[in-house]
Amino acid sequence: MDNPEKFYITTPIYYVNARPHIGHTYTTVVCDAIARRQRMMGVDTWFLTGTDEHGQKIERSAAAAGCSPREFVDRVSREFRGLWDRMGITYDDFIRTTEPRHVRGVQAMFTRLQERGYIYKGSYSGQYCVSDELYVDTAEPGAPCPECGRPTETVQEENYFFKLSAMEAPLLKYYSEHPDFIRPETRRNEVISFVRSGLRDLSVSRTSFKWGIPVPNDPKHVIYVWLDALANYMTALGFGSDDPKDRRKLQRYWPADVHMIGKEIVRFHCVYWPAFLLAADLPLPKSIIAHGWLLFEESKMSKSRGNIVRSETILDTLGQDALRYFLLREIVFGQDGSFSFDALVQRFNSDLANGIGNLASRTLSMISRYFEGEVPYPSTSERIPADEAIARLADQTIADCQAQFEQFQFSRALETAWSLVAAVNKYIVEHEPWAVAEREDKDSRARLATILYTSAEALRVVTALVHPVIPEATARIWTQLGLGDIKALDLRNLAWGQMQLGTKLGTVEPVFPRADKSMVERMQQMEQQGAAESANKEDEAKAATAEAHPAGAGAQGQPATQAVAAPSSAPPAVVPSESENRIAIDDFLKVELRVGEIKVAEKVKGADKLLRMEVDIGSEVRQIVAGIAKAYEPEKLIGRKVVIVANLQPRKLRGLESNGMIVAASLEDGLPVLAGFLEDVPVGAKLK
Ligand code: ME8
Ligand code: MG
Repeated sequence: MDNPEKFYITTPIYYVNARPHIGHTYTTVVCDAIARRQRMMGVDTWFLTGTDEHGQKIERSAAAAGCSPREFVDRVSREFRGLWDRMGITYDDFIRTTEPRHVRGVQAMFTRLQERGYIYKGSYSGQYCVSDELYVDTAEPGAPCPECGRPTETVQEENYFFKLSAMEAPLLKYYSEHPDFIRPETRRNEVISFVRSGLRDLSVSRTSFKWGIPVPNDPKHVIYVWLDALANYMTALGFGSDDPKDRRKLQRYWPADVHMIGKEIVRFHCVYWPAFLLAADLPLPKSIIAHGWLLFEESKMSKSRGNIVRSETILDTLGQDALRYFLLREIVFGQDGSFSFDALVQRFNSDLANGIGNLASRTLSMISRYFEGEVPYPSTSERIPADEAIARLADQTIADCQAQFEQFQFSRALETAWSLVAAVNKYIVEHEPWAVAEREDKDSRARLATILYTSAEALRVVTALVHPVIPEATARIWTQLGLGDIKALDLRNLAWGQMQLGTKLGTVEPVFPRADKSMVERMQQMEQQGAAESANKEDEAKAATAEAHPAGAGAQGQPATQAVAAPSSAPPAVVPSESENRIAIDDFLKVELRVGEIKVAEKVKGADKLLRMEVDIGSEVRQIVAGIAKAYEPEKLIGRKVVIVANLQPRKLRGLESNGMIVAASLEDGLPVLAGFLEDVPVGAKLK
């Protein structure tokens, strides 16, 4: 954050092949807290986020969801925007790669690279991983992708190539001259050793599918989705436009100050993107910061592993501040961190409800009660060392906390702020203002005023410092303190002793009511329900939803099949090994599988994937709702014997209770296929 006059920060643009989860929320909240704080420091800030909507993966996801790519991307992109609004994300612009301004800009970039002699036509023959949109360097058809383990597909087509090999020396020179370009240091070292190991030319177009930006003057080709996506950081500012307004914006904000990304897309951002920019003779971003992963149940949260947590569950229960605070406080920025509902509720109660919430409510309610809602004047004569100590601690807290935020040490910064909260809560308990208020002597009134003034002033300081992280509650505390709209606050001047005396408090209300223990279970249930529903929802793509993985093994987009050594410090791919995936027999026996016979089957109104069935499982007839309507005519199912998971908790789908699950093979790209029997079997028989 070294440029005082402007600050441009970006998140990755997220793939719309699946709905957002708290992994995406993490990056976006980090950027939002930074952007909010920069604005409060008086910096002209531009904060960009958006969605990545082209490519083979998206095209297939749309097909699997049974709609056109356009409809599909519109829907999922809208979900991202809706979520960011609920999370209090103050983005200045939201770029979609299907927008004309982006398409135009990417084509301009391609042409520029072509004109400068960095693009030539060749042919590619090799393997491609659609999930990662990644060229995989192997000669073996169907070989697993080194990043995600899924089988690669053979691609043999005429392509345009970018002369990445020519950028090896210029990149290494750039890295060495700009030590802060890639952060943290470990990522920088990985990138340098990767580039040193040799770069080969990169295929930057495809011909075997349509859903992308056409190559100018050669529309048989669509531009490689990563070249398309990376350009967003400039097209959103108007790159490729002739409009003077766009030109000024680009001039004003480019180069970006921070590209914030997750560590699995380091190579794209730290090798390909700067290589394109160097070749195009455009300024490079000032820094690329890669954070760690949010883990859930020990592995990276990702749609393809089915271990995601949706932000909505937390928004519907504890609210945006709870999630924002948790993500920034619990995860040491840069490192991997774990999410759990237990830890979330614990943090909520200890830090928000009992910490700042309690400080606010006791301070403000005592000022209401004892001073008719006016912040009292502190007495000059009735000050004791404990009062002075709080004042000194507050000034120290401001200095430390600000420095820690500057260095992206969010967790430390919050810890620092909360040590002031704890100190003031302790000060209140020790000095018992409620007891002082009972005393009749003439000094006690002045003593009481000093204690409550001190508490309110400390509350003001903390509220100002943590506003970028928990904007909603702090805005409310600010009005309750009688200070008006927190948006007017200038953080640069924050210091002890600025509270206007005699300030009239606003209406005092609790900001963080304690969460009950049962909240954990409730959230877990909501997650299960949400997962079950989305598995059946039409707007869910089943196919090709894998995530990209670390900047580790796997050469990308080279013509032919020369090998590239992976950097030795590559982070481990988090693909669970086979033995980790094994379960004990007891685990399997928990699942009650039975033979059932379908008695009734009909379409569910308004849900073109769902069938409602009545299935005889021997002991009873169950209503089951399943997403197989695209695969089977209901009439043809009557009398068919199927496998039922009989001991699942019932769940509601489109308002219908589904009491069990039908077992089917679920195919990457095709329709589900019901499991059945070659021999005749009695209804109700158990499978084990
Ligand atoms: O990679 N922990 O999009 P994407 C932490 N479209 N961060 C996570 C996370 C997790 N478990 N899961 C996702 C793409 N993220 C490309 C980017 S940019 C020109 C194109 C965050 O939908 C993190 O920021 O797979 C990660 O880099 C990003 O989402 C990947 O989102
Ligand atoms: Mg991903």
